[in-house]
Amino acid sequence: MLKLGNISLDVPFYQAPLSGYTDRAMRVLAHKYGAPLTYTGVILAKIALHKKAFNRLYFQPTVDEGLVGAQILGEDPDIMAKAAAAFVNVGFGLIDLNFACPAPKVLRRHSGGYLLKEPETAIKIIRSVRNSVSCPVTIKLRAGFDKSQESMDKFWQICQGAVAEGIDALIVHGRSVKELYRDKGDWEIISEVKHRFPQATIIGSGDLMDAETIVKRIKTCGLDGVIIARGAIGNPWIFNETRALWDGRPKPERPDLTEQGEVFLTHYEMIAETRSMLKSIRYFRKFSVGYCRHHPQRKMIQADLIAARSRDDLYTAVKKWFGVG
Ligand SMILES: Cc1cc2nc3c(=O)[nH]c(=O)nc-3n(C[C@H](O)[C@H](O)[C@H](O)COP(=O)(O)O)c2cc1C
Repeated sequence: MLKLGNISLDVPFYQAPLSGYTDRAMRVLAHKYGAPLTYTGVILAKIALHKKAFNRLYFQPTVDEGLVGAQILGEDPDIMAKAAAAFVNVGFGLIDLNFACPAPKVLRRHSGGYLLKEPETAIKIIRSVRNSVSCPVTIKLRAGFDKSQESMDKFWQICQGAVAEGIDALIVHGRSVKELYRDKGDWEIISEVKHRFPQATIIGSGDLMDAETIVKRIKTCGLDGVIIARGAIGNPWIFNETRALWDGRPKPERPDLTEQGEVFLTHYEMIAETRSMLKSIRYFRKFSVGYCRHHPQRKMIQADLIAARSRDDLYTAVKKWFGVG
């Protein structure tokens, strides 16, 4: 069980925020296959203050998504607090604050990962969001802006401040902002966060691509939980596989190709609900790559799916490789 403030999840892992991926469609599938909580991708806080923001479907969680957290990004404590309240108001069950994003345009605006350089501002944001909503509030941060001692001191200062402000969980990705996605994430630093703050809920992130690794990380690092990020792209089954191992049951067989193809098409159709055909075909390519990763003829099927230019092309390729559609 994983406790996040007044919410209890029945398993200690859930869907990580993935900008450009964890939209409604991916969240519905993650929920269906056993994720007890999913997050949006990162959203600019000030967008929530626009009158028409919540007309967009993306900003309104639906019942078939289960429990969804909104992850927000910004550098102004007041705007962050107002945005948090607005997201809760439309049905998000949890707020996550992004102190992790390494994108240059985000760093230039002094938000996301940049805030790891400014512990006072980061802590002000935490305090003001904490006071604006009664749902759980978590923060996602990287292990420092870079590997310097000064950066690490600031990282610990933020962890300390967040715990003192009553944050409901610290989600730590074991790479610095400067490291982007290079090399392997450092799980020792994540364990050390738990060691230094044993009373706080500490959740780890980094390189969790299969159920075995997920269970191993939770157990060997002494963590309260982990989030599953790239490992869930085109692979919603990772959640029920991890559930089985976590409960001490054997890992279930992968669904046969027919079922994989059906899920693939369901995913595509959900994407197509809100986009033109051309846009949905383009947008879906990155998910296709994920679904292909587990197919015995990965390379050939990938080429066919990526070459699809219309819904008909996509269905023809799925019929050929998965036998459905
Ligand atoms: C394409 C992509 C988009 C991401 N978007 C977000 C995001 O919106 N918010 C966030 O906090 N982290 C984001 N992340 C980081 C992931 O949540 C996760 O911490 C990171 O990928 C490490 O986990 P993994 O190695 O298991 O994928 C993103 C990562 C990737 C690869």
